[in-house]
Amino acid sequence: MNQAVAPSIPATPQPREIVTLQAHILQQQSQYPEATGQFSWILSALSISAKMIAAHVRRARLDDVLGSVGNQNVQGEQQQKLDVIANDILLRTLGGREGVAIVASEENEEPVILRADDSQERKYCVLFDPLDGSSNLDICGAVGTIFSILRKDRRSSSPAQSLLQPGVQQVAAGYVLYGSSTVFVLTIGLGVDMFVLDPAYGAFMRVARGLKVPRANPCYSLNEGNRASFPDGYQKYLSWAQERGYSSRYVGAMVADVHRILLQGGVFMYPPTKKAPKGKLRLMYEANPMAMIMEQAGGKALVAPEQRILDVHPTDIHQRVPVIIGSSEEVDNVARHLATA
Ligand code: AHG
Ligand code: MN
Ligand code: MN
Repeated sequence: MNQAVAPSIPATPQPREIVTLQAHILQQQSQYPEATGQFSWILSALSISAKMIAAHVRRARLDDVLGSVGNQNVQGEQQQKLDVIANDILLRTLGGREGVAIVASEENEEPVILRADDSQERKYCVLFDPLDGSSNLDICGAVGTIFSILRKDRRSSSPAQSLLQPGVQQVAAGYVLYGSSTVFVLTIGLGVDMFVLDPAYGAFMRVARGLKVPRANPCYSLNEGNRASFPDGYQKYLSWAQERGYSSRYVGAMVADVHRILLQGGVFMYPPTKKAPKGKLRLMYEANPMAMIMEQAGGKALVAPEQRILDVHPTDIHQRVPVIIGSSEEVDNVARHLATA
C-alpha cells in the first residue's frame, strides 16, 4: 500500500512583535524578581526626556533657540540655548524619580545631589551629556544625548565621591540620536537594543535586539584637521589606512559618528591633540557609556593600547580621555600602530 506523504505545510509567518521601550523595560525588569522598579522608573524618565528634547530640537529654528546663551560651561565651551533646555529637561524628569540620588551633567560644574539620605534602599547616579554635538544645531545637523547609570556607592566619603567609579561598574548606558529619526540605543548589560520614535504614536518602538557591531569595516571617523598635532602612532595608522583605501566619515557629533560605526563598523577616535593633550571627550558621560555599548555589541573601546576605557579610575567627573572605539579588528589596527610608534 502506498503510504500517503503528508504535504508539507509552510509555517505560518509570525508577525513581528510590537514592543515599545516601556514594554521592553518592564520585560527586562520581570527577569529580576528582587527589582524594586526604581531602575525602570529612571529609564522611563530618560525616555520622556528624549521625546521632549527631540521636540525642542525639531523646532529649534522655528522657536529661535539656536545660538549661545552667552555663558561658557565648565569645559570653557559656549553653552547653546538648547544645551541649557536639554539639561533642564533631564534634571526635572530625573529629579522626580525616587531612585535617583545624584545627577551629574556636562553643563553643571558640580554634581546635583537630589537625595542625600543614606537609607538602605538602593539608589542610582545618572550622568549625562544633555546635548552632544550641539554646534551642529545651527546647520540642522544631527545631535544627541548620552547617559550613564551607576549604583550609588554608599561607602564613599561624600556623595560626589560616590560618582567616581570606573565605567566597568555602569549598570546601564545609552544614547539618543536626534537625526532623520529619533533613535534610542540602550544597554543594561544584556546586549544592545535599539528603538526608534514613531511620531504617529509618540512611542519608541523596538527595531533591533542584541545589536552586534561588524568585526571590521575599512572606515575611520575622526577630526582629520587636527592630524598634524596627533601623536605619531595615530598619524602612522592614518597613512596605513589610506594606503588601503579606507573611507573617512565625520559628522562632528560623537553620538552620530559612533552610531554609524555601531551599525556599519569601523573605528571612531578622538586622539590627544596639542590643544587637548588628554583628548577632548569626557570620560564619565561620553566615553564610558559609548564604551559599554560598543563592548556589549562585541566591539572594543580603548584609551591606549591595552587600556580599556571602562577600566579608567576617574578622579574628576569632567575629566577627558583619548577615545578609540569600534569594530574589534579596526580598534586593534589602531592599537598596533600606537604600540609600535
Ligand atoms: P558637546 O557638543 O557635548 O560639547 O560635544 C562635542 C564633542 C563630540 O560630540 C564630538 O565628537 C567632538 O566634540 C567634536 O569635536 P571637534 O569639533 O574638535 O572635532
Ligand atoms: Mn558631547
Ligand atoms: Mn554636550
